[in-house]
Amino acid sequence: MCGIFGYIGNKNSIKECLQGLKLLEYRGYDSAGIATIQDAKILSFKSPGKLIELEKKINIFKDLKFDLAIGHTRWATHGSPTLANAHPHFDEKLKLAIVHNGIIENYASIRKKLLSKNILFRSETDTEVMAQLISYYYANDLLKAFDKAIKELTGSYAIALIHANHPDEIVASSKESPIVIGFDDNKDEIIISSDPNAFLGRNLNILFLKNNEIAHIKNKKINIYDKNLKIIHKKTERLNSKNISFSKNGFEHYLLKEIYEQPLTIQKAFLGRIQLKSGEVEFEDFNLPKSFLKKFKHIIITACGTSYHAGLCASNFFQKYLKINCSVEIASEMRFKDLNLTKDTLIIAISQSGETADTLSAIRKAKENNCHILSIVNVKNSTIARESDSSIFLKAGPEISVCSTKAFTSQITVLYLLAIYFARSRNLLEKKDAQIFLKELKKIPNIIKKILKKRKEIEKIAQKYAIYNSFFFLGRNLMYPTAMEAALKLKEISYIDANAYPAGEMKHGPLALISEKLPIVGFCLNEKTYDKMLSNLMEAKARSAPILAIASKKSYGIEDIADDIIWVDKVIDDLAIFPATIVGQLLAYFIAIIKKTDIDQPRNLAKSVTVE
Ligand code: F6R
Repeated sequence: MCGIFGYIGNKNSIKECLQGLKLLEYRGYDSAGIATIQDAKILSFKSPGKLIELEKKINIFKDLKFDLAIGHTRWATHGSPTLANAHPHFDEKLKLAIVHNGIIENYASIRKKLLSKNILFRSETDTEVMAQLISYYYANDLLKAFDKAIKELTGSYAIALIHANHPDEIVASSKESPIVIGFDDNKDEIIISSDPNAFLGRNLNILFLKNNEIAHIKNKKINIYDKNLKIIHKKTERLNSKNISFSKNGFEHYLLKEIYEQPLTIQKAFLGRIQLKSGEVEFEDFNLPKSFLKKFKHIIITACGTSYHAGLCASNFFQKYLKINCSVEIASEMRFKDLNLTKDTLIIAISQSGETADTLSAIRKAKENNCHILSIVNVKNSTIARESDSSIFLKAGPEISVCSTKAFTSQITVLYLLAIYFARSRNLLEKKDAQIFLKELKKIPNIIKKILKKRKEIEKIAQKYAIYNSFFFLGRNLMYPTAMEAALKLKEISYIDANAYPAGEMKHGPLALISEKLPIVGFCLNEKTYDKMLSNLMEAKARSAPILAIASKKSYGIEDIADDIIWVDKVIDDLAIFPATIVGQLLAYFIAIIKKTDIDQPRNLAKSVTVE
């Protein structure tokens, strides 16, 4: 994971670097560091913990003018999150500073080789090994030394480095870890970043480095070299995010702000895509070949975490309308499975960030098997979007809180629209049936608004349940993946042990854990499974479990079973995921408030998971 940032330009590079790292902090927040060059020496600042700790350390330097700087925000892989392991890392002579995102797989053997040459190491990291290796090959030409060293490395990396003898140069390279370079028309400012999120508030030309390409930035010039060190010319795109800003809009946390955004973000996901009159769905920038649209025989959805849950929720819908198999694969597992991938398989990759390494690996494997890759992503220009054959964007705006909320409900919305689009294209769904469903979907933002108004009620229930150390979240049919998502929210931000089960599975083992100390959160919003769900809750109640139910106003019988009920409006079964999810998100949020956890940046996590 980790975020790397580099700046050469006419502004204070330290300030710019800090600003850039703030926008990348969601990629990791175990430690942070910045290096620049002063009087032909590397000047560096590092701190364990969040960026704010680093900022305190360099406050006095913030007003000095340095022409260039590189910075890093870390999610620990090799070595614990200590000061010694924080980036930048240096060579033995402290002439070279490097920041790195990725993992060098053969670092141990290179380290051994360098140790045998009596080179001293200061940290346990694979990154320091790179710094020392580049320095070992250095003979006044930074680019050549860099090129020679990276040819020895196996693994993945996005790197930026500076050298005290070259006070106006940054060298950067990428392999399986993204690097984007942004610059204004005059190249007064040139910025290197792990992803375009760091360009927020700017209007820039951008280019992405491909595997093994090297960028050499010097004197307002950006030269890009291929792996044979030949200069190549790359296309640039324009990215204008001048009017977008990160703000909590008066909310205490980004998470709460993003929960409250959902009526709007769901609307954005369907706006302009639903044609109610014709019962059709349309996607802009969507180039699935018509011939393929009619012929694919099998869908595999792949994703991680919350995005995986969105895939689970939608797979049933695809099967129902398309009458073909739709399986859902956890991306980190898909790579190693013997799946029957053919050119008639449609892969749907779901990712909020578009940078998740596991999902990327899964789609790369599918590509090798000639599958068509359709991605559903939030971040435009992200690696997954760029590597897919076609993409649909969520249009949910930046999701800052590490815990995903609005992306999930937008993903479900887009997946449902996609199923309708496929079914209509294949003449499997009548116009009037499509219209009925789409009308119901359009009601969801208002249903969510009503739940958001229950904030106080849910807060009160959270106070009652925050005393427990473990939870079971139960659901059947579509309420099972919904329960999985709700349990993930609770464990992620409150650090409480929360497990999700299909309610019918309880009697096959988990029931042994039930006691008055283990509350059950029962999602009772699917009509199809409602009676069975009540029976399962009864079984838990009979064993003294406290029961909190989420039910719709028209349901019966639940009042005799549950200790507490959060009532929501009735919606059709396929759409019940939405109200249930909002309740789950608010419940987790208010319990986390009581637990006083770091809600927007929970411990050990990062927003963009760029390691496998
Ligand atoms: C949970 C969460 C993670 C992500 C997962 C995939 O709240 O945010 O589980 O959903 O890391 O990330 P994306 O969707 O960016 O691929």
